[in-house]
Amino acid sequence: MKLTVVGGGSTYTPELVDGFARLRDTLPVEELVLVDPAADRLELVGALARRIFARQGHPGRVTTTADLDAAVDGADAVLLQLRVGGQAAREQDETWPLECGCVGQETTGAGGLAKALRTVPVVLDIAERVRRTNPHAWIIDFTNPVGIVTRALLQAGHKAVGLCNVAIGFQRKFAGMLGVAPADIHLDHVGLNHLTWETGVRLGGPEGENVLPKLLADHGETIAADLRLPRPLLDRLGVIPSYYLRYFYAHDEVVRELRTKPSRAAEVAEMERQLLALYADPALDGKPELLARRGGAYYSEAAVDLAAGLLGGGGSPYQVVNTYNRGTLPFLPDDAVVEVQAAVGGRGPTPLPVATVDPLYAGLMAQVTAYEGLALEAALRGGRERVFRALLSHPLVGQYEYAEALTDRLIAHNREHLAWA
Ligand code: G6P
Ligand code: MN
Repeated sequence: MKLTVVGGGSTYTPELVDGFARLRDTLPVEELVLVDPAADRLELVGALARRIFARQGHPGRVTTTADLDAAVDGADAVLLQLRVGGQAAREQDETWPLECGCVGQETTGAGGLAKALRTVPVVLDIAERVRRTNPHAWIIDFTNPVGIVTRALLQAGHKAVGLCNVAIGFQRKFAGMLGVAPADIHLDHVGLNHLTWETGVRLGGPEGENVLPKLLADHGETIAADLRLPRPLLDRLGVIPSYYLRYFYAHDEVVRELRTKPSRAAEVAEMERQLLALYADPALDGKPELLARRGGAYYSEAAVDLAAGLLGGGGSPYQVVNTYNRGTLPFLPDDAVVEVQAAVGGRGPTPLPVATVDPLYAGLMAQVTAYEGLALEAALRGGRERVFRALLSHPLVGQYEYAEALTDRLIAHNREHLAWA
């Protein structure tokens, strides 16, 4: 099996490689190709990847290249984990929305729109080249904003699935709290990427006993503290929102906080400097502790699981993925991309049925779905008015004065990345 990672020079790659090494029975990788335009980073990360494989006695080969066509030729799956404009662009996304009193975040709100506009054309171009060289390859997208990017890929007819680690993170955490194996926890996970709620936590599988009430009763304090939401709110909701819901449920509080501290991009940029220095040490042959301070915990396990399912080699029978709605959430259009549990096999993901969604969550999902559609229009066709429409539709923007001001800022800060601006 040949796997290609686009953005292979990312500091996240050792996380992925560590997962491939540990889980080689689930996913027997023979060749891992890391492709990246940044030659120095690629060599550094590539060499560490080889040491990780060697240390764990993995027989697979790791190769590096800047040539995308060669990299995807013969690949069974292509993972996308790139960041257009790097942490510098992220820093902007996290900063200028705050000037208008709106949250500055790389996937939510105006910053998320900026990232979508930069990213969608680049990802579509890569996907086109993958399809031309190798129409059979699956594209696994971890590139944010995953919901919009996956919708762009599917709409263009690509063989693509979107992946996020929020669900697997909750699964691991709840398993620990309940003292069971992660594989024994099945989440009723519903919503859009970075806009999800766990409406059930089941033992054994989709038909298993729902222990969410017990989990909240016994561990509600810890869960609320991790989410940085008040415990009574969780009890009143009776479900567990993902940490991205804090940007909605505590928007103004988050804005106040963000205004008083360095951006996450700045923190991550500093961590990346340290990580690259560690990676350069030839004695290092595993993923360093520091990597655990990035948000991508368990990303590798989710990726291995998904690739194994898609390539017919097993993996968990049900996995949380981003894919076309097609009636799963009947209040959303069929061509919306939703993040739900699905049976994953060689023909792709098939979402499991979802129980009726409380209007408290369905309303927000519907509004953000509309935003994602308008954001994709803006990303594909460009133009100030399309950016304005997307921002006006976003529940965290909404007012025309903010939408106007944010549109101007978005364009001003992203001109070099927007072909039409
Ligand atoms: C989680 C999200 C990812 C996001 C990451 C940010 O893993 O699921 O979509 O990219 O957090 O982590 P970072 O360390 O870059 O802030
Ligand atoms: Mn994510």
